[in-house]
Amino acid sequence: MHEAYQRVREQAKALLLANRRQGYDPHFRRPYRYTCPSPERYRWQWFWDSCFHAIVLSHWDLEQAKEELASLVSVQRPNGFIGHVIYWGRKRLLEPWAYLQSRPSLRPRHTAYIQPPVLALAVHAVFRRSEDTAFLRAMVPPLDRYYRWLAAERDPDRDGLISIISPYESGLDHKPAYDPLLGIRIPCPRSRLSVEWRYRLTDLTNLALGFSAHRALALGRFCVEDVLVNAIYAQGLYALADLHRWLGETTQADGWERQARTVEHALLAKCYDPQVEAFFDLAGRKEMPLRILTVTALFPLILPSIPKERVHRLVERHLKDPKAFWAPYPVPSVALWEPSCVPEMHWLIWRGPTWMNINWFLVRGLRRHGYREEADAITEKSIALVSREGFREFYNPLTGQGMGAHNFGWTTLVVDMVEGD
Ligand code: GLC
Repeated sequence: MHEAYQRVREQAKALLLANRRQGYDPHFRRPYRYTCPSPERYRWQWFWDSCFHAIVLSHWDLEQAKEELASLVSVQRPNGFIGHVIYWGRKRLLEPWAYLQSRPSLRPRHTAYIQPPVLALAVHAVFRRSEDTAFLRAMVPPLDRYYRWLAAERDPDRDGLISIISPYESGLDHKPAYDPLLGIRIPCPRSRLSVEWRYRLTDLTNLALGFSAHRALALGRFCVEDVLVNAIYAQGLYALADLHRWLGETTQADGWERQARTVEHALLAKCYDPQVEAFFDLAGRKEMPLRILTVTALFPLILPSIPKERVHRLVERHLKDPKAFWAPYPVPSVALWEPSCVPEMHWLIWRGPTWMNINWFLVRGLRRHGYREEADAITEKSIALVSREGFREFYNPLTGQGMGAHNFGWTTLVVDMVEGD
C-alpha cells in the first residue's frame, strides 16, 4: 500500500499542476490563477472544487494554494456573495445553462448560485500549514462578508439553517432526494430531455425571482435546508471562529462560534429522524423532510458536538450496513437499497457512485469521533480506487469502475485523507 500511495501522491501533484490555469482577465481587469476541476469537462473555476484543491496543494505548494483561494475571493461582490462558477478569461459564448444560472448579462462573469461553503475550512488548512499571517489578514475580511451574506440572504425563516434554491447549489447536482420537488419519477427517469428540463425549470424560476431565497420560500419554489450544506456551513463557521482567535479577535471569534452552535443545534433538532436515526433535508415553508437515504443523511458526523450516541447510530446502522453504505468501494452517494440508487449511472450524477470529497469529509469526521478502523478502511479503499482507475470524477461503488471526467482535481483529496489531520 505504501508504494501504491507514493505513486498516487506523485500523480496527484502532476495532476494539479497540469490543471492549473493562469492569465489576465481583461473584463475583471486582474490576473487569475486557479486549478480547473477537469480540463476536458470543467474548465472554469468552481467554488468548492477550488477549496479542495487548495487543501491538497497546501501539502506541497503553499503559494499555489494561496493563489487558488485569492482568485476565488477576488471576484467577491461588495455584498459578500461569491458565485459557484467563475468564467475567467472567457473569449467565446458560454454553454446555454450558464446564462440561466447567472444574473441577466451578455457577458456573465460568474453564476448567481452558491456551493457548499467550504471556504473557511480551506483558509484554515492553508493558514495552519503556512502560518502566513499576511494571508490570514487578507482572507478574514472577505470570509466575514461571505458568511454574513449567507446568514442574511439564505436563511429566510431565520432558524439558523441556510437554504439552497437549486439542486446545483448543493454540490450534489442530481441527488435523488430532490426528485419529488422537481417532479422527477423514482426510481430512474427514462428520458434525458424531460429530466434536463426539470432542472432547467428551476434555473428559469430563479432567474425570474432574482435568485432570491426569500422569494423562493414565499412562493413555494425550490427552497431546501440541505443537511450536507448546513453541516459544512457549521464547520466553516467554527473554522472562521478559529481564524479570528489566531488574530486575537475574541469578540468576533465568540460571535461566529455561537452561530456555528446555533446551526448545529438546528440540524440536531429539526433534521434528525429518530425512527430512521438519520438526518434529512427539509423542503419549503412546511419543512417537509425529504426522506431518501443519501449520504447527506450521515453528514452531521463531521461536526464536533453531535452526541456520541447519534454518531454511533449513524455509523452502525447506516454507514456499516453492506446493504446501505458499506459497499465494496465505499461510500456510495445513495444507500444501495434505495430504489433511486443506480451505481453505474453517469448521465445523472450523485445517484449512487462514490465520490472522493464525500469520503474525505466522512473520514475526517470518523477520526474525530474515534472511529479509526472505519476511517482507515475507507482511506485504503479510496487509494485502491485511484491507483487502479486513476483520478476519475466518481466510481461505481460495487465494481470500483471509474466514471465521469478524467484527471479530476478533488479526487486528489485522497492525499489529505492520508496526510491531513
Ligand atoms: C459537478 C458536481 C459539482 C462540482 C462540479 C465541478 O457539477 O456536481 O459539485 O463542483 O461538477 O467539478
